[in-house]
Amino acid sequence: MNILSIDTSCDETAVAVTNDTTVLSNVIWSQASLHTKWGGIHPSLAQREHEKKIEWVIKRAMTNAKCPMANVSAIAVTVGPGLAVSLQVGITHAKKLAIDWQLPLVAVNHVEGHILSSLAESSKSKRNNNLSFPAFGLVVSGGTTQLFLVEKIGKYKIVAQTTDDALGEALDKAARMLGLGYPGGAVLEKMAKKGNSDFYELPIPMLGRERERRFSYSGLKTAMWRLTESEKQKGALSKTKIQNLAASFQDKAFNHLIRVTDYAISNHQKKYEVKNLLVGGGVGANVELRKRLRKMARELKVKVHFPYSKKLYTDNAAMIGVAAYFKFRRGEVVSNDKLDSIDREPRAKIDKPFGFEKGFKNSL
Ligand code: KG4
Repeated sequence: MNILSIDTSCDETAVAVTNDTTVLSNVIWSQASLHTKWGGIHPSLAQREHEKKIEWVIKRAMTNAKCPMANVSAIAVTVGPGLAVSLQVGITHAKKLAIDWQLPLVAVNHVEGHILSSLAESSKSKRNNNLSFPAFGLVVSGGTTQLFLVEKIGKYKIVAQTTDDALGEALDKAARMLGLGYPGGAVLEKMAKKGNSDFYELPIPMLGRERERRFSYSGLKTAMWRLTESEKQKGALSKTKIQNLAASFQDKAFNHLIRVTDYAISNHQKKYEVKNLLVGGGVGANVELRKRLRKMARELKVKVHFPYSKKLYTDNAAMIGVAAYFKFRRGEVVSNDKLDSIDREPRAKIDKPFGFEKGFKNSL
């Protein structure tokens, strides 16, 4: 079945067409460069840009997929978590499409999209999606750093999560301290590749406290700020210094992520066998992080799954289409006469149903 999906949860206007779990098109209009001078997302600017671009992105996704509306079986949209005013734009357009074409609507949790992004397939290369569940799901993005137990698709338990910044947010802030712009994760990675991660001493967060199953980046961030400020007092930061600072920060941030994830998975494995780890979210695009996750997974005898394309890591609508496909199969759809019950849910939780969903029964 073909699903047209929309995600406007943050600063990307994203629309995709998927056929079951196969991506037919995945169009992303990023506003990131417009927010650079604020060093973060400016809400009313984000809303305005989504409104300006969304119809064009929808048209482009339909054209790229070579799929006329008459062949679409459902509309899917992210209703949360995310920035309220941004979510609203996608929801309004999704409802309009559902009414115009008399199609059911599937409301999707953005984080569930990230968890399932590694199940997306391309029409050229099919994947074996017959995974055994339970599995683990790790989402490392700008808004979330969470490890889940995926009991089955649609049923998630939080195993570990951040108590302050998300990993992507911490990398962005470190990049900003180094004058690398926003969002800075990818530039920081480039700098870190050429740097020496042992040159500066930065602390590994919560070392020895992995059993608390918490991710935390605030201490590391403060240490980085102090270090950077003291280096700046000596004069403008040279490229070599920036590379070494970037390498040190990234190394400690990843070290902490791996330690907690490794502890949580291996502890769980003592009682129950779990064979798969699904990874999603923008920071997953980082080559060094994927290398470390592969190594950890090998040692834990778990198979790790990453999205097949870079465009599936950061915010995109194809992952929403994949999540929507499974929800559709479970009958979790909203018919035209109930569209009013769907509203944005900026603080939506993955382990809780949406407000309007409380009466649904999972049938898969
Ligand atoms: O998944 P995403 O678009 O955001 C949320 O859904 O929250 O991820 C964006 C985050 C940003 O923090 C960005 O700096 C980071 O992903 N990111 C990276 C890389 N590419 C994007 N971080 C590290 N290395 C990268 N290559």
